Amino acid sequence: MHNDIASVLISEERIQSRIRELGQQIAADYRNHDDLLLVAVLKGSVMFMVDLVRHIDLPLAMDFMAISSYGASTQSSGVVRLLKDLDTDINNRHVLVIEDIIDSGLTLAYLIDQLQRRNPASLRICALLNKPDRRQSSVAVDYLGFDIPNEFAVGYGLDYAEKYRNLPYIGVLKEEVYRRG
Ligand code: IMP
Ligand code: MG
Repeated sequence: MHNDIASVLISEERIQSRIRELGQQIAADYRNHDDLLLVAVLKGSVMFMVDLVRHIDLPLAMDFMAISSYGASTQSSGVVRLLKDLDTDINNRHVLVIEDIIDSGLTLAYLIDQLQRRNPASLRICALLNKPDRRQSSVAVDYLGFDIPNEFAVGYGLDYAEKYRNLPYIGVLKEEVYRRG
């Protein structure tokens, strides 16, 4: 698995230290709320969610949504489909959406639109990674881990054809891995 990686973009140490900072910042910002709801988008955001919540020293709940992504391709189709909805009614709740990566922004724009219709008390976005050069749909990110260059990243939740999610760091795949299919 490590052999398929051309270069490491963000080390495990940098990821974990940034997540600690984000968690502390979120805890400070929401200190007056006891009904914070974190919503993660499956499956890529799971690692981020479970590491982040351990640095948010507040009462909170977690829920999950699934939306269609690129399949085995590395390009956004622009078509977003809801595969699994929340278990929670978010009406009047303080919602913080946890995303792994914002690329074109199309996925998040769709998600925000869906969630806003349900009248949450507040709705903010926390994303681990952002590719600013690729944005097609403008979305305001309230908490951001890292900006990364326009390269296809894997690891720490991010997959290529469902693999590499369990890498503890974020890296770029070797060209030959895509050619292999
Ligand atoms: P967007 O709709 O283009 O912003 O794409 C967002 C989703 O595409 C993310 O939640 C990821 O599932 C996937 N994605 C975008 N860029 C990458 C990448 O570099 N590596 C792995 N998955 C990615
Ligand atoms: Mg995803």
